[in-house]
Amino acid sequence: MNLISNEALLPFDFILFGGTGDLSIRKLIPSLYFRHSEKQLPEDGRIIATGRTAMDSIGFRQSLDVQVREHIGEQDFDQLTWDSFLQRIHYYPVDVTDPAGYQPLVDALAGREEHVRVFYLSVAPNLFTPIARGVHEAGLITEHSRVALEKPLGRDRQSAEEINDSLSAVFDEGQIYRIDHYLGKETVQNLLALRFGNAFFEPLWRSERISDIQITVAESLGVEGRGAFYDQTGALREMVQNHMLQLMVILAMEPPVSIDPDAVRDEKIKVLRALKPLKGIEAIENSVRGQYRAGAFSNGPVPGYLDNEDIPNDSTTETFVALRAEIASWRWEGVPFFLRTGKRMESKTTEIVINFKKVPHSIFPTADGFSTPNQLIIRLQPEESIRMRIYVKAWGDDIQLQPVYLNLDFNDVFQKRRMIAYERLLLDLIRGNQTLFMRRDEVAAAWAWIDPIRAAWEQYQYTPKNYTAGTWGPGAANALISKDGLRWNED
Ligand code: BG6
Repeated sequence: MNLISNEALLPFDFILFGGTGDLSIRKLIPSLYFRHSEKQLPEDGRIIATGRTAMDSIGFRQSLDVQVREHIGEQDFDQLTWDSFLQRIHYYPVDVTDPAGYQPLVDALAGREEHVRVFYLSVAPNLFTPIARGVHEAGLITEHSRVALEKPLGRDRQSAEEINDSLSAVFDEGQIYRIDHYLGKETVQNLLALRFGNAFFEPLWRSERISDIQITVAESLGVEGRGAFYDQTGALREMVQNHMLQLMVILAMEPPVSIDPDAVRDEKIKVLRALKPLKGIEAIENSVRGQYRAGAFSNGPVPGYLDNEDIPNDSTTETFVALRAEIASWRWEGVPFFLRTGKRMESKTTEIVINFKKVPHSIFPTADGFSTPNQLIIRLQPEESIRMRIYVKAWGDDIQLQPVYLNLDFNDVFQKRRMIAYERLLLDLIRGNQTLFMRRDEVAAAWAWIDPIRAAWEQYQYTPKNYTAGTWGPGAANALISKDGLRWNED
């Protein structure tokens, strides 16, 4: 099944603002390289990088030569393919805050008005508005143009609306692609396939059968190198407002009538709007904030959050957050959704756990007394897999039930390189398919749910609890879930 069509791409110019930045080097350029090596980019497809650094295209290509290779990986790097890929890449220094600074782009794009034109803003959010204005005033926006934005899209609902207003002044909504790279991950798209490509899940996918859902996005990395940015942001804005809510809405939405962008996004927005607000004391009772202290992993000790040079030593920014959320709808009434995410947690683990209700009446004795129900575990990272926990009769002469797992490991099934999330998204962007991008109202609705939580934290001076780096977060997160008689899945 093809979720999104693989039609051939039209000739394009991909204008990459922030071309020398970290994201470009680690993800964007490698993703385009892979699509080039799979022969999915048309011959006349150019990548025009810009940045503040003064250098020419040859210098930029040389710097990519040094920096990008490790992010492609030795086993996937092919010198001839790389050399031909580099021919697509051009570089112009552009001061995006100076209207005259766009002249090199005007020259480079002249006569190519019929081509797809992508403006990719891999820059700090305070440059979104100047760039939108800059490309507009330089006359660069054509009817075949699109603009793509990296998160964070604002710090709250109001600032997100301001950014969106400035974009809408020069681009139509159909030209604006708001990126959440989680939507590019294979397993996230597989959630759609699992739910809507198989008839047997749907009848179970509701409060009559599901007891609770847990979403964990744990990272072992800290914030080194990005401390100044991170300290102004925190885990709730960085991970929950976007990635985690996107996972949650895809899990919870009603079946869309088609895979068309608006059919899918219309269903997603309904879930965001149905999230029960967490305000005031309810926000405090249903959330946990944490901040990591020094700890250790198997490869050695790591410093605490406050030990970073660029973090004020009295910072109260959360590096961990856990939430208990509910969706007010027929399908989900009474089903708690537990979300947790953090830096410097025990391992890099992204997973969704769906716990089903126990059988209404048990006729069997079991090894564990049915204390743990049937579970569907969808793992996104480190490996991609789907596991289903079911009860079987253990071999032996008595009837004793035992939980076992049906395992589906996508590596074994597909036996090929796992795509970088951006590969799919960049192709869709060039192709003009918005299904896996966030619409303006989605962003606004997500902030509308997040803002009152932050406001309550401030009102009640709800400061983060400490947790040791290399653990699963503060004990308070266990207390949060145990109020419902549950525990986090940490098997
Ligand atoms: C980014 C956050 O959006 O997602 C990072 O800004 C985080 O802080 C990253 O590390 C996690 O993405 P992934 O794909 O590694 O789970």
